Amino acid sequence: MTIKIRDVVNNDATLISRRAWSDDHIYELEKKGIFAKTWLFLGHESQVRKPGDFVQAFMCETPIILSRGEDNEVHAMVNSCTHRGLPVCRSDKGNTKRFICPYHNWSYKIDGELAVIPQEKTMKCKSDKSQLGLKKVPRVESWRGLIFGCFDEYVEPLEDHLGNMKFYLGAFLDRFPNGIEFVGSPQRWVIDANWKVPMENQLGDVNHGPYLHAAVVPQEAADEINEFGYSVVPGKGHGATFRLMPEDAPVDNVAWGMETITGILGGEEVQNYLREIQASAEERVGPVRARMKGLAYGVYPNLSFLWSNAGFKVSHPRGPGKVEYWSWSIVPADAPEHLKKVLRNNHASFFGPGGILEQEDSEAWMQQYLGSKIDFADDRPYYYGLGLGLEKPHPDLPGMVDNTANEHYARAFYLRWRDALLAVEDEA
Ligand code: FES
Ligand SMILES: [Fe+2]
Repeated sequence: MTIKIRDVVNNDATLISRRAWSDDHIYELEKKGIFAKTWLFLGHESQVRKPGDFVQAFMCETPIILSRGEDNEVHAMVNSCTHRGLPVCRSDKGNTKRFICPYHNWSYKIDGELAVIPQEKTMKCKSDKSQLGLKKVPRVESWRGLIFGCFDEYVEPLEDHLGNMKFYLGAFLDRFPNGIEFVGSPQRWVIDANWKVPMENQLGDVNHGPYLHAAVVPQEAADEINEFGYSVVPGKGHGATFRLMPEDAPVDNVAWGMETITGILGGEEVQNYLREIQASAEERVGPVRARMKGLAYGVYPNLSFLWSNAGFKVSHPRGPGKVEYWSWSIVPADAPEHLKKVLRNNHASFFGPGGILEQEDSEAWMQQYLGSKIDFADDRPYYYGLGLGLEKPHPDLPGMVDNTANEHYARAFYLRWRDALLAVEDEA
């Protein structure tokens, strides 16, 4: 029997059916109601700096080419030949004038327009090439260098979708005098879990840190989170967690990067750079955000950001029970090369496919998925009620705010998720 969405998430999202993470019909509704209609992260402007630059991306399971055209604009199009559907680009990234399909050699310009059908040389009739370009992603917009696309041409502007989340993303992205850049290609790997599980983890699940990661998270770090930690629901299904350090905290306790192996292995040069950034952070992000020491963020529906280990991640769905995880290391654009290397190592050591924390998380996510498939337990939906109603506004922090034990980040995410699926349920 087809499951009804009203039976999956209750009205305050304190109870959620296990089927939310394992049901085929729900997965199809997610494609229609979420991935066809919501802004999805495609890449960063530092990856496509010059005309002809391109990188691969995905929008759910649909392969996308993100490129910079001869017009210097960013374009996004579906990586599938309009002749018989083959991918026309197989490189992760590069610079080119044309994408050439290997099957019959149709060639496409960097912006996706069809340039040449070689078979036309021997035929009298000509096809209307203006109708045969790669399918364009109709809306592409960027904010602070982060490029998003949406298949719904009537979607709200990207900045409205990000809403209050800009305040929290800006606390990091605006911190550096010349912004940030993405390093190389993302690390990519597949986990036997539903795409929402890692997403939920990074929207605000700080609760698991001292337990699942007990061997790695020192007691002082857990104490600091208990004392200064916040979980914020900025709205629209996004989430942000961080510590707001006291005004008189020593610079080394506030400065981004000092608490990870970046600060330890980087040596004096790196440490001084990190202190310098912190010393002038207030000029760029203001007094409140200068004291923020981030943990993890989630941008609805499937982008996350790990502040202390400096990485962006996307959960690309591959069916209800598989996720292809993409993970980029990011660095301040003007950082010394030595620091960029240390940051990249730090990111990979903790959150690459073999990262210490990633391994522990991935195992938990796979088990959560298995728990979502079992029989004879449908009368035990998962409980998301921790802290219900305790979140409230804060004078300095936009959104609803509480300490990091409150699960309001997940309730807000799944309420938006439920609305999106209800909107398309009757079409299915
Ligand atoms: S499938 Fe691409 S040219 Fe024929
Ligand atoms: Fe974790």
